[in-house]
Amino acid sequence: MAQLVTTELLLLLAGVAAVWAARPRTELLNVCMDAKHHKEKPSPEDELHEQCSPWKKNSCCFANTSREAHKDISYLYRFNWDHCGQMAPACKQHFIQDTCLYECSPNLGPWIQQVNQSWRKERILNVPLCKEDCQQWWEDCRTSYTCKSNWHKGWDWSSGHNRCPVGAACHHFHFYFPTPAALCSEIWSHSYKLSNYSRGSGRCIQMWFDPAQGNPNEEVARFYALAMSAGAMPHGIGLLLLSLVPMLQLWLLS
Ligand SMILES: *[C@@H]1O[C@H](CO)[C@@H](O)[C@H](O)[C@H]1NC(C)=O
Ligand SMILES: *[C@@H]1O[C@H](CO)[C@@H](O)[C@H](O)[C@H]1NC(C)=O
Ligand SMILES: *[C@@H]1O[C@H](CO)[C@@H](O)[C@H](O)[C@H]1NC(C)=O
Repeated sequence: MAQLVTTELLLLLAGVAAVWAARPRTELLNVCMDAKHHKEKPSPEDELHEQCSPWKKNSCCFANTSREAHKDISYLYRFNWDHCGQMAPACKQHFIQDTCLYECSPNLGPWIQQVNQSWRKERILNVPLCKEDCQQWWEDCRTSYTCKSNWHKGWDWSSGHNRCPVGAACHHFHFYFPTPAALCSEIWSHSYKLSNYSRGSGRCIQMWFDPAQGNPNEEVARFYALAMSAGAMPHGIGLLLLSLVPMLQLWLLS
């Protein structure tokens, strides 16, 4: 009798775990953050400009935002990439792609956090960028110059665009960003982090992708949304239950 009750209880727990596991928090998927230029909801945008065009089928940015993303000192943020002389074009293309990902991607939901900032209500935090995307960014910026490692804060904005503050000297990128990990995590106050995973793994966000093969970041968002909704259950019960499921199945079948 006790044995029977135990079995039933375990079956119930396994069932509950399976249901929880199969139901990610839907608001983490296919969403736009509440920030300066984002649409309320993702939708198709046929006219997305050049480097932002991979997001045409489903996008959080309007076409005008995608065009601005390719300009220097654009109306988006009045940001000057050339604050220590001309940034190399090979380097700049990564900043354009970074802007496209930030403005257009509907797959950053698992990393959206609320913030108290005058210009946005939400930000992204620790988005795991595929290691090749981060490494290439760092390598292509080798020959360019900057004067700061955090590009969110501390600029002199008195001219209407960012200039190096007094005392911040221009040096090669590598002076301020000694590693790819330093670049990806420090530059935008930990919006990104260097992932240990590679492009195509389904476990890291790709800044660059070929839309002919679909958007690889959809699967990545689903994976992390699921992992986070299981992890968010009290006291790690979710993960515990999840880890028990295969064991229970083996035990019940034996
Ligand atoms: C960009 O386009 C959208 C939709 O067409 C419009 O609502 C928005 O006001 C435009 N923004 C600017 C700054 O022109
Ligand atoms: C934002 O500011 C409000 C009011 O000052 C405060 O109540 C709230 O906790 C803050 N939220 C965050 C995320 O810091
Ligand atoms: C990356 O993953 C490999 C294999 O799982 C592991 O051995 C290595 O320590 C990881 N590196 C970092 C930086 O986490």
